[in-house]
Amino acid sequence: MLVLGIDTSCDETAVSVVRDGQEILSNIVASQVIHSKYGGVIPEAAARAHIQAILPITEIALKVANISLRDINLIGVTNGPGLIGSLLCGLSFAKALSFSLNVPFCAVNHLVGHIYSLILEYKNPPLPMIVLLISGGHTELYLLKENLEYELLGQTMDDACGEAFDKVAKMLNKPYPGGPYIEKLAKKGKRNINFPIPVLKNYNFSFSGLKTAVLYYLKENPSYNEYDVAHSFQETVIDYLILALNKASEEFNIKNIGVVGGVAVNERLKERLNLLAQDKNYRIFIPRKELCLDNGAMIACASYYQYQKEGPSDFSVEAFAN
Ligand SMILES: Nc1ncnc2c1ncn2[C@@H]1O[C@H](COP(=O)(O)OP(=O)(O)OP(=O)(O)O)[C@@H](O)[C@H]1O
Ligand SMILES: [Mg+2]
Repeated sequence: MLVLGIDTSCDETAVSVVRDGQEILSNIVASQVIHSKYGGVIPEAAARAHIQAILPITEIALKVANISLRDINLIGVTNGPGLIGSLLCGLSFAKALSFSLNVPFCAVNHLVGHIYSLILEYKNPPLPMIVLLISGGHTELYLLKENLEYELLGQTMDDACGEAFDKVAKMLNKPYPGGPYIEKLAKKGKRNINFPIPVLKNYNFSFSGLKTAVLYYLKENPSYNEYDVAHSFQETVIDYLILALNKASEEFNIKNIGVVGGVAVNERLKERLNLLAQDKNYRIFIPRKELCLDNGAMIACASYYQYQKEGPSDFSVEAFAN
């Protein structure tokens, strides 16, 4: 079964062709550079850029996969959460394609797509697994069960993990998205600032206090060392994430740990998780970078499984922002 996966939830236009929910034939992502100078995504600009990119990116995805539109058996598309204008572009496109080709389509939750990036990368990963989703808009902890059902254990009550990276980067006058800049700065820094590790309530996260602590530190120390700020901040975030993973691993007696979403590309996070794995006998699963950042392949994979279970979506399905 050839699945065309489409994601336009935020500021990347992503289209992919995946065979049988497993084999990636193409995975094309057009990132919108327009937002960088504004320090965040401008929703109207994002929607307009998706409209311009969706056709050419789909054509490239088909060409790289060496197939034609007529070969597609299923269309998977993100219908939320995300920016409503951006989502509508991908969803309308998918519905139109589905109608004109007479091929079923499945509307997929973007976060479920991120979880399924683990299935796509590792084929048959050991389950159950504790899955931490850390992205630009979400920080969520899931229990992924043997039957691929998932249970939400907790989520952020304010900022998302990636958002905290982006905001701290902005305070350090770095462009959006800031996560990669923080990681780069942190490599040259030391942990000599004691930012407080936020409190974990059940499995609910909070990043706004840490963000504010960085802001106050910068105000009180105008000649701050940006390398040390980035390093100390990043280590504190990782401490916090590890705290949640350890707690869940103990409570559910599960040693399989998956980490997905854009922040999961952070090399220092991977390094610390690998050390933790040795210490605690964990098995760590982190998809490759292209599958952690927004992409169409994870949506194709999730829609493949959703279609087996629930069948196609109806044309009345709507986009939802939150
Ligand atoms: N090396 C890195 N270190 C830390 N954070 C990073 C790194 N690379 C990317 N990020 C962060 O990952 C986020 C983008 O991830 P992703 O594309 O999954 O998020 P999103 O799709 O915008 O949000 P969501 O999936 O919640 O809708 C940004 O906040 C970015 O700063
Ligand atoms: Mg995402």
